[in-house]
Amino acid sequence: MISYSFVGEKGKMDALVVPVFEDKKFDTLVKDLNDLHEGLFDDVKKLKDFEAKAKQMTLLYTQDKVVPRILLVGMGKKKSMNVRLWKQLVGQSVVTLQGKKLQKIGYVLPVDVVKMFGAKKLGVETTVAIEAANYAFDSHKTKDARVKSLKNVLFASDMDGRQKKQFLVGHKNGLSIAEGVNLVRFLGNTPPTVMTPTYLAKESEKVAKKHKKMKIKVLSRPDMKRLGMGCLLGVSQGSQHEPKFIILEYSGGKKGDKPSVLVGKGITFDSGGLSLKPGAYMSDMKFDMLGAATVLGTIHVAAALGIKKNIVGLMPSCENMPSGTAYRPDDILTAMNGKSVLIDNTDAEGRLILADALSYATMKLKPKEVIDFATLTGACMVALGNERSGVFSHNDKIVERLDSASKEIGEQLWRLPLGLEYSEAVKCEIADIKNLGQVGGRGFGGASTAAAFLEFFTKHPKSGDEIYPWAHIDLSSCYWGGKGKPWVRGGANGFGVQTMIEYLS
Ligand code: BES
Ligand code: MN
Ligand code: ZN
Repeated sequence: MISYSFVGEKGKMDALVVPVFEDKKFDTLVKDLNDLHEGLFDDVKKLKDFEAKAKQMTLLYTQDKVVPRILLVGMGKKKSMNVRLWKQLVGQSVVTLQGKKLQKIGYVLPVDVVKMFGAKKLGVETTVAIEAANYAFDSHKTKDARVKSLKNVLFASDMDGRQKKQFLVGHKNGLSIAEGVNLVRFLGNTPPTVMTPTYLAKESEKVAKKHKKMKIKVLSRPDMKRLGMGCLLGVSQGSQHEPKFIILEYSGGKKGDKPSVLVGKGITFDSGGLSLKPGAYMSDMKFDMLGAATVLGTIHVAAALGIKKNIVGLMPSCENMPSGTAYRPDDILTAMNGKSVLIDNTDAEGRLILADALSYATMKLKPKEVIDFATLTGACMVALGNERSGVFSHNDKIVERLDSASKEIGEQLWRLPLGLEYSEAVKCEIADIKNLGQVGGRGFGGASTAAAFLEFFTKHPKSGDEIYPWAHIDLSSCYWGGKGKPWVRGGANGFGVQTMIEYLS
């Protein structure tokens, strides 16, 4: 746990982070520091190897006992500053200083940035960025090899008393959000032999216990049979591990308010099943439960912040394995809504377990809206790279609100299409629908045909009418940054939690 404070009289620290704009004079605090060090920053800027361009950094040794190191951080041009960049700069400086095993660091909060974001928001975003950057999944390494966590963070700024108060309110919220984000990352990073559906259910129960307004129900195989969740059962049947269907209910709103339903794919390991993945594509498939983790993390934070909404989380969870008992290509499964599904490829399993979860939402809940999260398709990653997720919906309003929520907090979404050609591609001659479609060639339009498959289960089973607004977020592209980014370590990154919190509040 990091302890935070504003810099006091005795502000001794290992290093002070000083962000400066490329195209602006130093503000008073930075100018004072510069004067104190006899124009050191001016001299550095003159040398031209540090021009304060965005993400440029340089470490200065000051020969000062109180602040022996200063990390100058370039913010680039003032007009290009935004929340995303600010968080990256904060994160990058934390990772850089941790690399030098420093544990007590100060942060100058520039006046212009306070003005730009407002003190409260600056408190939220700075805190989330610090906590996210401080996180490392290294508990499996020997102690000495682990990242040194930060111990103290001191904020230095010219904020007045009122602004400081607002900053602290934001900071407190930021701590809750970061806890959810890092919970998601922990769950995603945990090895798949440990992270089974049962383990995920236990972790969900732990979360539920922490909050008064939260209830949890975990369905096991017999319950699934009774409800007719043939798709979830089908995907599960090759695995040694019992499937679970986790239902988390948070009642922060008025009784009778329709719930926002969040659905998350919880495949604890995706080997591809009998349509086995080639080796290179199988590693990282422990992350295939990050949709479910995102739902759990979001509801945990929503409860911690006391968001006044009713929220239901649905997390179908199982493992996709090949074995003598595994489901097969050519099998026909029946989803909870009574529709039959031809299995073309057992590696398109995420859409199957989501079919039952969406059917559950359709038949058992009266949703205000349904938003699902899933590491669903490699195609989405091919389309978008690894810094934004795909969003699919017929509802422009939901897309706009999700998009502006994500921008507000520095995450990125990109709308990809639903449409008739994708829906037609999953039509089937011998069942109501098949789990693989293509538009124009093998794999073409893969992210959209997967989304069209899901859409089928959001509709009224008889009339085919839309009964609630629905959006699907394909996380495959963005649940991790490969080996990591300068501002966040590799592994799961907790994408989506903060966007959803912004969206729900
Ligand atoms: N979990 C994968 C999707 C995935 C791939 C997520 C890479 C993150 C990184 C999903 O279950 C899957 O295997 N999708 C297949 C679908 C195909 C068989 C139609 C894919 O994308 O290759
Ligand atoms: Mn798969
Ligand atoms: Zn999968």
